[in-house]
Amino acid sequence: MTAGTSGTGTSFARSLLRTKPVDRIVGEGGAGEGGELKRSMGLLQLTFLSVGATLGTGIFVVLGEAVPLAGPAVVLSFVLAAVTALFSALSYAELAGTIPVSGSSYSYAYATLGELVAWVCGWCLLLEYAVSVSAVAVGWGSYLNEFFGAAFGFTIPDEISGPPGEGGIVNVPAVIVVAFAALVLLRGASESAAVNTVMVFLKIGVLLFFCAVAFTAFRSQNLAPFAPMGWAGLSAAGSRVFFSYIGFDAASTAGEEARNPRRDLPLAIVFSLVIVTVVYVLVALAAVAAMHWERFELSGTEASLAHVLDSATGRSWPSVILSFGAVIAITSVVLTVMYGQTRILFAMSRDGLVPRVFQKVSPGRRVPVANTVIVALFIGILAAVIPLGRLVDATSIGTLFAFALVSVGVIVLRRTRPDLPRSFRVPLFPVTPLLGVALCVYLMVGLGGVTWVVFLLWILVGLAAYFLYGHRRSRLASGSPGKGLP
Ligand code: ALA
Repeated sequence: MTAGTSGTGTSFARSLLRTKPVDRIVGEGGAGEGGELKRSMGLLQLTFLSVGATLGTGIFVVLGEAVPLAGPAVVLSFVLAAVTALFSALSYAELAGTIPVSGSSYSYAYATLGELVAWVCGWCLLLEYAVSVSAVAVGWGSYLNEFFGAAFGFTIPDEISGPPGEGGIVNVPAVIVVAFAALVLLRGASESAAVNTVMVFLKIGVLLFFCAVAFTAFRSQNLAPFAPMGWAGLSAAGSRVFFSYIGFDAASTAGEEARNPRRDLPLAIVFSLVIVTVVYVLVALAAVAAMHWERFELSGTEASLAHVLDSATGRSWPSVILSFGAVIAITSVVLTVMYGQTRILFAMSRDGLVPRVFQKVSPGRRVPVANTVIVALFIGILAAVIPLGRLVDATSIGTLFAFALVSVGVIVLRRTRPDLPRSFRVPLFPVTPLLGVALCVYLMVGLGGVTWVVFLLWILVGLAAYFLYGHRRSRLASGSPGKGLP
């Protein structure tokens, strides 16, 4: 190899590792083309943003799929997944308090691990946010039908309530919930947060109602043997229910719309995780104590919690309330996760890695209008015509990978920028972030071969997109200072 080609090779490798200085990332905060995002969210709204994005299909649907894997020990599977999430949440809290912008783990990776890893992280966030929310929107229609059926005795015909391949032509309910979320988001961030806060109160209320009713049917013999499938079953169920924790990081996409991001983002992330863990453990315990675990598999229904209430009370009205709660819960997941996706793309666009249209802010409501419309169209089309149920595990693996990167980011940033002001510090450093990485990898391994193949294909497509577009257009590469900087 000649000196010239080896020099080109070195500078190419260096370009993949270029990091974006933290001060520059923070300095650009809020600014997009056409205006700035509006700082309107306080601690309650931020906490509920994360709870809104987290508490949904996982507890209403995936719990029922996990019970046959672990038996009553599914309660501990939720604890295992919560511990994994907690280690990542602490790392998120530290970086969100240090780099309080909208890009979440994408921005943290850009500051610590370089552009290529940041891109891969942003690409994985597309799985965590856009693809997962499409899957969630697909499931919304089933609960709407469940609710209509139980409350009014009619259901939407299969042809217009399911995607092709699942007995339908187009999933109209999925399109409706995505369109509703887009309209709310276009009204503004604080309006969206207010709608979400109401929905979060409702969904927590409905789940507490479930616990109250199910605990009246508590049978201790349903809990024995507690772990019929041993540790293997408990841990497999832990990987599966990890899906239900995805979303606690949503507050970290609101760094540029929070009133006091350095103080509130770390608190919101940790508070939301504590709230959902308590709710999940109570609901899981109430469910397996009220109905023998083997009956979950036999019931063969997605609406397993409604089935628990039917069998506990012998009446239908509790499941009407429950299916209404699920409709509200999933609506708020769609709203908040879509919000997160638009803000991550906003940050990536400001860096030049995705087209500029994603960073245009409308002067009136100070929201990224075109960005929101494009994201809604993408999610709506995906949810309308593609059966996405099988993508649940793929979204978990992508998310776990992004979470692992955040913990690595904490370690790197403590070494490279020990001087930065940190409003929150991970306790027991470096043990906590190292354990965070280890637990994420452990759950990733538990997800099985097919999911890994889907994940690796996803990464390959992402790498192709980066080398064809982002690598050349990166603002860091062109030396452009970016918005918000002199
Ligand atoms: N955690 C979210 C849910 O369970 C994705 O719906």
